[in-house]
Amino acid sequence: MSETSVAKGRLPDRIVALRGRLFARINGDEGIPVPSDLIGVERFREVYSHPAAGGRSKGAALSDLFWYWLAPGPEMHQEHLEAGERYEAVARVTRSLLAVPRAGAEELARRCAGRALADVRGLVRLRDLMMPLWAEFAFELVFAEPCPRLARDLIAANADDVVSSLKCTGLRHMRRRLRLTAYLLDRLGRVRLPLPAGLSPTQQAYYLQGAFFNTAVVQLSEAMAHLLLVLAQHPEAQERARAGDDAHLDRVINETLRLYPLFGIAHRVTTGDIELDERTTIPAGSVLCFDYPAFHRAGFAEPDRFDPGRFDPDRSDRPVKELNHIPFGIAANRPCPAWRLAPIAMRVVAREVLDRYVLASSVSHTRSLPSRGPCLLTPLGARRRPGPALAYLRVRDRWEDIWRGLTQLVLGAYMVWDARRQRLCERHFASAEEHPYARPGSDHRSGS
Ligand code: HEM
Repeated sequence: MSETSVAKGRLPDRIVALRGRLFARINGDEGIPVPSDLIGVERFREVYSHPAAGGRSKGAALSDLFWYWLAPGPEMHQEHLEAGERYEAVARVTRSLLAVPRAGAEELARRCAGRALADVRGLVRLRDLMMPLWAEFAFELVFAEPCPRLARDLIAANADDVVSSLKCTGLRHMRRRLRLTAYLLDRLGRVRLPLPAGLSPTQQAYYLQGAFFNTAVVQLSEAMAHLLLVLAQHPEAQERARAGDDAHLDRVINETLRLYPLFGIAHRVTTGDIELDERTTIPAGSVLCFDYPAFHRAGFAEPDRFDPGRFDPDRSDRPVKELNHIPFGIAANRPCPAWRLAPIAMRVVAREVLDRYVLASSVSHTRSLPSRGPCLLTPLGARRRPGPALAYLRVRDRWEDIWRGLTQLVLGAYMVWDARRQRLCERHFASAEEHPYARPGSDHRSGS
């Protein structure tokens, strides 16, 4: 997961843009933005798919910061494993755990939504509403048994801590995260499929925590918060989706993830030279920063306007597959393993919400959504006079933006400093070179 945004002049946007610049500074001159003057948007896919655009963490100063945010066990997080045997073993298990038949995935999502939405009404923060739901969903994917309350709370607390620190709205709380690690260690024997061979129990727990109880829960909660907020702010799209138009709901999901991609920047470290033309070569060891929001805006008329019709095959002048739209990454270069499952589960949960409530919100909607998506849920059929609640939400949102923006700057600066001090990634690889017979990621060196 990574963060950046297009600056639109409001304080939170300026702060996110400032953070983006900070990230670029951390990587020094190595960081090459894509698209840019050097690599135009028309070559975005080609360069992203290049076999030499394959290094994940080693050699990028930015990695120390991401490892810090993802700890404990960032060296076991699938997203940050370098290509090789260990990566293949881990990716295989993730694929198998996610390969649930469609009907089963839909039934599971429906059941989890039913529990999470019982007794909810009034003002909520959508991300907070979604986290326990996806915590239960991820737990059942991994253990194939109902999620106990204790586990749900540990998972939601872990995921919330990770995403809050990533957005610089809170600091890391390692004890909170390690409580989940300890719980998972105790339960390894009950995982429904064999875990990657050759990993110690601690490494297996870190792997599960990273992919399923951090990334899966955070990404699905963020994506649903964006989707529901979009529906809350576009009543026509909401009504049409509620009426049962599934094709329309799919287009709304696509357009939501185009406007608010969960990844700001995905970076890769080049493992060999990439020749752009006769005179220009990107040397090995460069850090390529693929800018999702910039790619998603390019090639669309009025790119900032919400228009799900862009994904209507009868309206689009290009096949939908060829649009600049990669919410789950690029097929040739480690795409999201949940690219099939996530939209299926999101559609079911959106339906469950729409069958129960009318959604309305007056808050500002940005890609980083540090407000966690304040929204008013009115049970269907209840008398509605949302005016005063929406006026209150608007004022509170503007006020929160100010102090939250300042908090983000202070906490962000502290975490950048702390991450550079700890140098989790750099030290991990340095120690692997010092002890060539110890496999990178073995227990004695695991992140803190
Ligand atoms: C709507 C929800 C989601 C979105 C939009 C999303 C998006 C993405 C994107 C764009 C990437 C690739 C980034 C890159 O090229 O570096 C990625 C990678 C990944 N995602 Fe997701 N994701 C979602 C949900 C999930 C879920 C439910 C899981 C469950 C395990 C998951 C696990 C991963 C993992 C493990 C990777 C790293 C893949 C690798 O390097 O092999 N994601 N995701």
